[in-house]
Amino acid sequence: MTAQMQPDRHARIMNALHAYSGHQSKGDPANPPIVSSVKFNLPGDPSAPYVYGRYGTPTLDATEAALSALEAAPVIGFPSGMAAITATLLSVVSPGDQILLPSDGYFTVRSLTKEFLEPLGVQADYVATRDINEHDLNGYKLVWVETPSNPGLDICDLRDLSVRAKKANSLLIADNTSATPFLQPVLDLGADISVSSDTKAISGHGDALFGHVASRHGSLMDRIRLWRKLSGSISGPWESFLVYRGLQTLEVRLQRMCANAMAVARLASEHSAVESVRYPGLARDPSHSIARTQMADFGFLVGLTFGTRKQADQFLTYGPSIYPATSFGSVHTSGERRARWGDAVPEGAVRLSVGCEPTDRLLDAIQEALDAL
Ligand SMILES: Cc1ncc(COP(=O)(O)O)c(C=O)c1O
Repeated sequence: MTAQMQPDRHARIMNALHAYSGHQSKGDPANPPIVSSVKFNLPGDPSAPYVYGRYGTPTLDATEAALSALEAAPVIGFPSGMAAITATLLSVVSPGDQILLPSDGYFTVRSLTKEFLEPLGVQADYVATRDINEHDLNGYKLVWVETPSNPGLDICDLRDLSVRAKKANSLLIADNTSATPFLQPVLDLGADISVSSDTKAISGHGDALFGHVASRHGSLMDRIRLWRKLSGSISGPWESFLVYRGLQTLEVRLQRMCANAMAVARLASEHSAVESVRYPGLARDPSHSIARTQMADFGFLVGLTFGTRKQADQFLTYGPSIYPATSFGSVHTSGERRARWGDAVPEGAVRLSVGCEPTDRLLDAIQEALDAL
């Protein structure tokens, strides 16, 4: 990441932290209230800041304002990452369109496309993340990328892709879940739309489902907002609040998580029980050189491949310091074998989501779990 992006990131996190409290009158609460009312006082002409819970609530607005400061772009919140992805795809594509998707990204996006978009006459092509920069983009209505990819942690060059997507008249849409806009400002790198599962690192505690879409193209955002209003895909106030609260500590959590991930990746690289390690922060990792140019840090996901499925399962259940679960990006280190969901990875491949634990204790726990194999 170029030095000139650093101050921007910090200004954005400052703005996100003060997005709510910075616009107050004497006596207002410091944090957004959890407004559970779906009815709002609405006599006469039905125009008011809030009219009905399905159109928006004050709590969701506060969360969107904070996310918007982080993205430096308008944001629309959704009740999950998949809801944000569905809204984006269905707002943009029409029957007869061709779209390009990653063959190695989050598998549910491929299932959604096969089950619901292809039967409507949308034609999807698939390409691996590491090959997309060489792929011809002509003819695609949209080019969808996920970088770093989940679970393989391959990275594509967003600046190059955005130039080529513009030339091909395609929209570039980046799923930024695994990096977050704080580590990788995909809109500044040229994506037209940023989508994210905030169920992961943005909320950060594994206790809220949420997603968002951000874009600087007003007409696209109008269409996505209309989709939300008509489909009813709106987040409740409690989840919205949890995301607002989690976002307040995003920067400090990511600092610890990225530092821990680097330490774990180094330890695992030197351990004989591990066949191979993927972490974009390792100098010999195939993603390293591009990661350095577009990420401020290398993230919290580490790929560990063991010789057998049994060893992987044993590692994941060795002790209380590694929580065996799907999902990622929260304060606790957790992991899973992705082959159990059908991802095209070896049976012994573990996606480890490194948490905020004290580094020395976490390394001791990982060392012990590896030594026991
Ligand atoms: C990269 C990526 N995008 C989107 C999603 C979907 O998010 P959610 O579970 O919040 O619907 C996930 C979930 O794991 C993911 O890993």
